[in-house]
Amino acid sequence: MDDSGPIQGAQVRYQGTPRFVLSNAEGRFHLPPNSDPQRITASKEGFFIEGAMSDLSPLTLKLKRLPAKDSEDYTWVDPTPNPARHQNCGNCHKEILEEWSASSHARSANNRRFLNLYDGTDWQGRPHVGWSLRDEHPDGIGVCNACHAPTAPFDADLGNLTGVSAHGVHCDFCHKIANASTERIGVTHGRYGLELLRPNQGQIFFGSLDDVDRGEDSYAALYHESRYCASCHEGVVFGVPVYTTYSEWLASPARQEGKQCQTCHMAPTGTMSNIAPGMGGIERDPQAMGNHRFFDRSQAEMLRRCLHVSAEAATEADSVKVNVRIQADQVGHRVPTGFVDRNLLLIVEAFGVNESAMPIDGPRLSGLAAPSWKGKAGKIYAKRLTDFDGKGPVPFWRARPDVEDNRLSPGQPDSSEWRFSSDTIRLRLRVIYRQFWPETVKTKGWPVDDLAVVDQEISIRH
Ligand code: HEC
Ligand code: HEC
Ligand code: HEC
Ligand code: HEC
Ligand code: HEC
Repeated sequence: MDDSGPIQGAQVRYQGTPRFVLSNAEGRFHLPPNSDPQRITASKEGFFIEGAMSDLSPLTLKLKRLPAKDSEDYTWVDPTPNPARHQNCGNCHKEILEEWSASSHARSANNRRFLNLYDGTDWQGRPHVGWSLRDEHPDGIGVCNACHAPTAPFDADLGNLTGVSAHGVHCDFCHKIANASTERIGVTHGRYGLELLRPNQGQIFFGSLDDVDRGEDSYAALYHESRYCASCHEGVVFGVPVYTTYSEWLASPARQEGKQCQTCHMAPTGTMSNIAPGMGGIERDPQAMGNHRFFDRSQAEMLRRCLHVSAEAATEADSVKVNVRIQADQVGHRVPTGFVDRNLLLIVEAFGVNESAMPIDGPRLSGLAAPSWKGKAGKIYAKRLTDFDGKGPVPFWRARPDVEDNRLSPGQPDSSEWRFSSDTIRLRLRVIYRQFWPETVKTKGWPVDDLAVVDQEISIRH
C-alpha cells in the first residue's frame, strides 16, 4: 500500500533471495510459505523500499513516496573512509570502495594526463608545454566538468579542486541519479543529461537492489541499463564527436543480444557476498552484485579477450604473400572506443635470416605510428582529428568536426594483404593499444605505456 491505497506491480520477495513476485491490483501477493519468520521486502520505482517480518499479521507493507523535488542544498558525502564522518561510503562499503578507487572514475577530475591537457602543464608540472585547453580555448574549460567532475561548480577550475568534487565521478553522485533521458544525448553532457534526486533531509540512495529496506533506498531498473552511462559516454564537444561509445553500442550486435554496458563492465566478481559486512549488510548472491572496477579485472585483459588476429601466408614465385585479419568480438562498441585519441596499431614484420624487412607491397604505417615504425607494414585504427589546415593529430578543441574514423566495428573483420621478399622465413604480428598519440606523450614527458595486446610469431614454410 501507499498512503492512498493498494500498489499494483510492486516487487515483493524474501529479502536476499533470488525470486520475487508482483503485487496485484488489490496490492496482494503470494509468496511460498516459509517455516521460520523472515523479512519480506517490497519495492516500486518512485518509492522507498519497505520491509517487515513475515510473521506479522496482518502483514501490511506501507511504501513511502520519494520527495517530489531535487534539493540543490544537499551536501555531497565523501567516499573516503573516516570514523569521524559516519556517512562516508567507504566506512561500510569497503570492497566496493576498493574497486571504485582502482577505476578511472575515481580520478576523472584529477588524473595527471587529463590535467596536463586541461591546463597545459607537462608531467613535471612545467606550464605551457604542448596541448593546452586553458591556453588555446579558455572559454571552454567549464565544459569538462559536466562529466569529469559532476559535483564541481560549472565554472570551477579543475586545476585546484578540493573536497568531495575532487573525487570526480564518485559514489554519492552516481547513486543520486534518478533518471536519464537520451533525448539530447551527445549534446547535453554528463550531469546536465541526468536527473538527480537529492533529499533536503535524511538520505536517498538509488540502486540495483530492490530489497534494501533501511528506509533510505530506492530501486531503479535504470541502474542495469546502458542509458544510465550514456550522457557521460557520448559527447559532441565543441562540435566534434569526441565520445561516441553509447551510439556505437546502439549499433552493436551486443545490444541486439540484450547486453548493456553493465553486463560487461560491472560483471560480478563472484566473490563479494556482503556489501556492508558488519555494518548492517546481509549475505547476498555474489552473482547479483555489480563490480565497480568497471573492467572485468583490467582493460588489458578485456582487450586481449576481444581482439583476434590471424594470418595466412602463401609463397609465390618472387614473394611471400601475407593476409592478416583482425577482428573484435565480445565487445559492445568499436575498438578502440572512449577518449578520442585512443588508437590501435597493427604491425606486421617479416624476417629473413636476420634483419626485419620492408614490405614490397601493401599498406604502410605513417608517422602517426611513431617515427621508428614509419614505412613498416601495418595499419592504424583510430579517429583522426585534423585542424582546418588538414594538420594532425590535433587536440579535439582545435579539430574540424568531420572526423576520419576507421576503428574496428564489433564482429566485422578487417583484412589486409602484404607482400614481402621471397626469402622471408618468419613473421611477427603485433597489435599495440595506445591511449594517446606518441607525439603528445613525448611533448608532455609522460611515461610510455603502450600495451602489447597481441604478439605472435608465424613461421613460413617454403
Ligand atoms: C559511475 C557510477 C557509479 C559509481 C561511481 C558508483 N556506483 Fe555503485 N552502482 C552503479 C551501478 C550502475 C550499479 C548497478 C550495477 C549492476 O547492474 O548490477 C551500482 C550498484 C551499487 C550497489 C549495489 C550492489 C552492487 O554492487 O551491485 C552498491 C551498494 C553501490 N553501487 C555502492 C557504491 C559505492 C559505495 C560507490 C563508491 C565507492 C559506488 N557505488 C560508486 C553506479 C555507480
Ligand atoms: C558522471 C559521468 C559518468 C557516468 C554516469 C559514467 N561514467 Fe564512465 N567515465 C566517466 C569519465 C569522466 C571517465 C574517464 C575518467 C578519466 O580517465 O579521466 C570514465 C571512464 C570509464 C571507463 C574507463 C575505466 C578505466 O578504469 O579506465 C569505463 C569502462 C567506464 N567509464 C564505464 C562506465 C559505465 C559502464 C557506466 C555506466 C554504468 C559509466 N561509465 C558511467 C564518466 C562517467
Ligand atoms: C553506516 C554504513 C553505511 C554507510 C556509511 C553507507 N552505506 Fe550504503 N548501505 C549500507 C547498508 C547496510 C546497505 C544495505 C546492505 C544490505 O542490505 O545488504 C547499504 C546499501 C546501499 C545501496 C544499495 C541500494 C539499493 O537499493 O540498491 C547503495 C546504492 C548504497 N548503499 C550507497 C551508498 C553510498 C553512495 C554511500 C555514501 C554516500 C553509502 N552507501 C554509505 C550501509 C552504509
Ligand atoms: C559485450 C561487452 C561490452 C559491452 C556491452 C560494452 N563494453 Fe565497453 N568494453 C568492452 C571491452 C571488451 C573493452 C576493452 C576493449 C577496448 O578497450 O575497446 C571495453 C572498453 C571500454 C572502454 C575503454 C576504452 C578506452 O580505450 O579507454 C570504455 C570507456 C567503455 N568500454 C565503455 C562502455 C560503455 C559506456 C558501454 C555501454 C554504452 C560499453 N562499454 C559496453 C566490452 C563491452
Ligand atoms: C560527455 C562527457 C565528457 C566531457 C564533456 C568531457 N569528457 Fe573527457 N572523458 C570522458 C569519458 C567518458 C572519458 C573516458 C573514456 C575512456 O576511458 O576512454 C574521458 C577521458 C578523457 C581523457 C583521457 C584521460 C586518460 O588519462 O586517459 C582526457 C585527456 C579528457 N577526457 C579530456 C577532456 C577535456 C579537456 C574536456 C573538456 C574540454 C573533456 N574531456 C570533456 C567524458 C567527457
